[in-house]
Amino acid sequence: MQVLIVGGGGREHALAWKIAQSPKVKKIFCAPGNPGTAEIAENVDIPADQVDRLLEFALENKIGLTVVGPEQPLVLGIVDKFKAKNLRVFGPSAQAAQLEGSKVFCKDLMKKYGIPTGDYRVFESPESAKDYVTGRQEKLVVKADGLAAGKGVLICDNGQEAAQGIQTIMQDKAFGEAGDRIVVEEFLEGQEVSLLAFTDGKTVLPLDSAQDHKAALDGDLGPNTGGMGAYSPAPIFTEGLKQEVMATIMQPTVEAMRMEGRLFQGILYAGLMLTAGGPRVLEFNARFGDPETQPLLMRLQSDIVPLFEACIDGTLNQCQVDWKPQSAVCVVMAAKGYPGAYEKGKAIHGLQEAGQLSDVEVFHAGTKISDGEVVTNGGRVLGVTALGNDTAMAIAKSYEAVNQISWDGVHFRKDIGRKAGE
Ligand code: AMP
Ligand code: GLY
Repeated sequence: MQVLIVGGGGREHALAWKIAQSPKVKKIFCAPGNPGTAEIAENVDIPADQVDRLLEFALENKIGLTVVGPEQPLVLGIVDKFKAKNLRVFGPSAQAAQLEGSKVFCKDLMKKYGIPTGDYRVFESPESAKDYVTGRQEKLVVKADGLAAGKGVLICDNGQEAAQGIQTIMQDKAFGEAGDRIVVEEFLEGQEVSLLAFTDGKTVLPLDSAQDHKAALDGDLGPNTGGMGAYSPAPIFTEGLKQEVMATIMQPTVEAMRMEGRLFQGILYAGLMLTAGGPRVLEFNARFGDPETQPLLMRLQSDIVPLFEACIDGTLNQCQVDWKPQSAVCVVMAAKGYPGAYEKGKAIHGLQEAGQLSDVEVFHAGTKISDGEVVTNGGRVLGVTALGNDTAMAIAKSYEAVNQISWDGVHFRKDIGRKAGE
């Protein structure tokens, strides 16, 4: 079978790496891909959000399975358009992807079906939103309704800060139309964890646990990023907790979506806060997380392609997922300035040396080839991922590889995975 992977980040390189191991797969295309995917797949020069061009490509090249990485094409309806032409595609429809695409939709759904989440109000006018927050002393969270590349959430110390956030999102339009509506939410305290699961719209098959590091700097300091590293498994996610989250959050959400006529097939990713009152949903994503996918797929023992197919065919109840017992750690190497404005075009040294280490994969994210050399071309540049017999060994191995790699201005956290031991 020929497979098309949509996207060009570290997650998509990890997907290509895993899919390439399937005996069912003859050839992989990646659109647009990156220099890492180019080593295992044929890159196709079509951006991930150009759905009509991707459709044309898939039809012309007899693609037997398309796997969608990022959220934009899902929200734009790539799955609907492919299915209308009888193409097999892994991911939710546009209607189902609203679970990630609209925070208002997501919060209202959870309220309607009693899925645990923070209290909230929705506002369509900045004046009424500001009236609501004025004079408040407690922490509040202001969220743009639409997609904002992970940046549309503002944690505010009090009502005054929240009013500034409302100004930024609704009036200065920092995230464009995504901020036409907002959610103002109570601030939840606790440890943050995520759970990803395959679903065919009925059966929900959880992946093993993984933990992201969102903050830019060591000790969880500095601004939030797309993710500076991840590890799997996450000891905090005990079997009991997983069962609780499956019973109170994952299953009810998939069922709620079915009742709403928005069958959710693909990966359901729940971002959770473990509060004193139990787990609460912070957000849902309608796709694999980046960088959680990198360590998860290095630990996945099962062939991933039959799992994708079972989600499409509604036969997930016949599947199981097997994991390697080892731990995996992914350290993201980022460009100077990320998550703000960052430098590009810096020559990357040591890729080969790092890639030769056993149990190490150097997943590319923001790289490109320039004059025959791999150079930086994004904020998150590489996801250096290693397996080890336990988390400490995986940490040591991934940093051994990280230390082989350098470029002018490289930045990475030195404490990825350490939380697993706390
Ligand atoms: P989201 O995109 O909604 O997951 O928000 C991004 C990040 O903001 C989350 O990973 C949390 O760290 C934080 N966050 C979001 N909502 C809340 C909340 N209600 N209370 C505390 N932190 C939050
Ligand atoms: N790592 C968080 C995300 O993929 O949204």
